Amino acid sequence: MANEVNTIGVLTSGGDAPGMNAAIRAVVRTAIARGKKVKGIRRGYQGLLEEDIIDMDAHSVSDIIQRGGTILYTARCEDFTTSQGQQRGADICRKHGIDGLVVIGGDGSFQGAQKLSHLGINTIGVPGTIDLDVACTDYTIGFDTAVNTAMEAIDKIRDTSTSHERCSVIEVMGRRAGYIALWTGIANGAEDILLPERYDNNEEAVIEHIRQTRQRGKKHHIVINAEGIGDSYGMATRIEEATGMETRAAILGHMQRGGSPTCKDRMYASIMGAYAVDLLCEGKSDRVVAYANGEYVDYSIDEALAMTKDIDEYQFEVSKNLAR
Ligand code: ADP
Ligand code: F6P
Repeated sequence: MANEVNTIGVLTSGGDAPGMNAAIRAVVRTAIARGKKVKGIRRGYQGLLEEDIIDMDAHSVSDIIQRGGTILYTARCEDFTTSQGQQRGADICRKHGIDGLVVIGGDGSFQGAQKLSHLGINTIGVPGTIDLDVACTDYTIGFDTAVNTAMEAIDKIRDTSTSHERCSVIEVMGRRAGYIALWTGIANGAEDILLPERYDNNEEAVIEHIRQTRQRGKKHHIVINAEGIGDSYGMATRIEEATGMETRAAILGHMQRGGSPTCKDRMYASIMGAYAVDLLCEGKSDRVVAYANGEYVDYSIDEALAMTKDIDEYQFEVSKNLAR
């Protein structure tokens, strides 16, 4: 086979996500089961350019399936967005005998993967990001753990918010994507859910809603605010001034990216990691593993990057009707 791979590299790139370790484990062990050598590239594309490359065997991934973060570390690497950086990355892969590569990350990381494919390194992307914002797939590794972590934290804030009859503005992650906000907003029964994709900056409408729920006798008012909208402390101050309801802000922050992955994240990560290796073993390159319509599938990176997705309109409508 012209494209046969002998040594498979694996790296994690961009923001980490719970379940990345399970994906690394699946890549390593599937590759070994297929008779391939495996190399771990630490710190994403940055580590590739610095040749921070280690040999991996079945034992290197023992006792990691339950751990958050990524044992390979991750990074964002400006140099790799340049054609010189990408050429150097491909040369370094060749120097280390890496003829197949699995890149675990989001859309940005897939753009890097595509460049390496075009430079002759068989490369496959696996979607790993808590944001769920990779258009070609219904699922991204890390989302389930992140929303469950956020949901538990919001439940706790709700307890104290109710006791003190306060309004709480709770900021969840998602700079451009509101999936974490939408899911936790619905799952936590928030009174207002502000998504970067939909929020029209009409803070007065939020304030009016708080006045109404207060009049109806609600003992708390939870506003889930996505990171992309931000300004949660300012929003809390303005809400308190306008409504007279004592208001606190909480930014959940990076706690949402850590912690032991849920069963769902471990399962998807394991299957997607294995699937990526199997694509490489079939001589495929320049593809992304995805989960779509109940099946694990793969798309060309070009096709995957050209896809777009938006907040589901029906889910958004439901979220508004339930948030009262
Ligand atoms: P994510 O993969 O989660 O979307 P980023 O957008 O931060 O995260 O991308 C991760 C890394 O992927 C970047 O730091 C950079 O090294 C690489 N990358 C992003 N865009 C490109 C690009 N257009 N070409 C090559 N590499 C890229
Ligand atoms: O991509 C995941 C994510 O957690 C986003 O939700 C968030 O906007 C961003 O990463 C935060 O990145 P950093 O780790 O640089 O603060």
